[in-house]
Amino acid sequence: MIPRFKPTLGWREMLALLVPAGADEVERFESAFAQLMGQRHAIACPYGRTGLWLLLQALGLKDKEILCPAYTCVVVPHAIVSSGNEPVFIDSQAGDFNMDLDLARAAVTERTGAIIATSIFGYPVDLDRLQSFRRDFPHVRVIQDCAHSFAAEWRSRPVQREGDAAIFGLNVSKLITSIFGGMVTTDDDALAARLRELHRQHIEPAGLLRGFTRRVYLAGVQIAFGEWIYGIIHWLERSGFLNRFVKYYDEGTIDMPADFRVAMSAIQAKIGRLQIERYPAIIAQRREIAKLYHDRLSGRVAMTLPPLVEGATYSHFVPLVAARDAVVQAARAHGIQLGTLIDYCIPEMSAYRQRPGNRHPCPQASDFSRRAINLPLVVSPSAAEMISDVLCEVLPNAGTGEPVPARHAA
Ligand SMILES: Cc1ncc(COP(=O)(O)O)c(C=O)c1O
Repeated sequence: MIPRFKPTLGWREMLALLVPAGADEVERFESAFAQLMGQRHAIACPYGRTGLWLLLQALGLKDKEILCPAYTCVVVPHAIVSSGNEPVFIDSQAGDFNMDLDLARAAVTERTGAIIATSIFGYPVDLDRLQSFRRDFPHVRVIQDCAHSFAAEWRSRPVQREGDAAIFGLNVSKLITSIFGGMVTTDDDALAARLRELHRQHIEPAGLLRGFTRRVYLAGVQIAFGEWIYGIIHWLERSGFLNRFVKYYDEGTIDMPADFRVAMSAIQAKIGRLQIERYPAIIAQRREIAKLYHDRLSGRVAMTLPPLVEGATYSHFVPLVAARDAVVQAARAHGIQLGTLIDYCIPEMSAYRQRPGNRHPCPQASDFSRRAINLPLVVSPSAAEMISDVLCEVLPNAGTGEPVPARHAA
């Protein structure tokens, strides 16, 4: 079974699990991460959402409205609510899944405290439009959500640097991983100092047991993604046996994980630092496979293909299909797992339906949530060709496909 996602781990990460990690690993990871992102500061957190929770407080935002994509990971509004603020959901634009910044403009009020500018699936936020948004609404803080994009670029400008700060997620499904974990980056010295102070106040140190369980978890992940084992894992996942490990939200509940205030452990930071060394190769491979899918599927398959955008980092390659379950099932019969991320529109979830921040229609996000599938990206070119051929067989283009031409941010 070819998995829908797969962390890029090698023998160095596995070896690191067997030896003690140094006491200064977290600081070393932070400085390597800041360097990778070209920023002055990076603060390691237990999760990306913990980083956002701390950041909203560090920006002095309380009882504010935070503009948030309707089509993003649901843990983002969870962190906003947990910080004492209200997410205001903004619909996506048709072209690249990102929040429509014109709709965001129309939603600004005196109570608006920040906008979560998210480069979803690795598609860079339009920094020109964002800059003009900042000029027109100087009271609105700009937080880049780079959990999917890392150092994606809009016209050669890295997205993470355009704003007050950026957040990153580092779980095993992300471009690089520190097992679990998150990062906040900023070029603002005073904001970084406030973040560190809040981290000191709210985040408890990781104990020895935490380091041990994280090691066991990563070793388990490496085994689970083995070619022969993954079929069983996939079956267990579908039967619900693995919900405890893979289900990250409950439709009707707004919450944070029980350990969201337990610091990143040294071993996680060590793994994160090793992953940084792989970053250029990881991005290059994703770009190569995304292009291969695009070239091979264009015009041949009854799907709406996602665009190829210069500077995108492709955390996911996300075509839209009409009968999603049938396509997923047909691919499974050929040994291919397709993902269905993101399969919800947040304002439609029962936890958010009645909230005051749900006051703008989000038809585009709703449509994406019903039709998105994602193709495996951590595969060899020959596997990607095989996957493409299977998809063309399953969904031959009978005039219903809408192939999208390659697009460039410049
Ligand atoms: C777009 C986006 N933002 C933020 C996060 C938060 O990351 P974490 O799971 O580390 O809290 C995620 C996590 O998956 C995400 O997909």
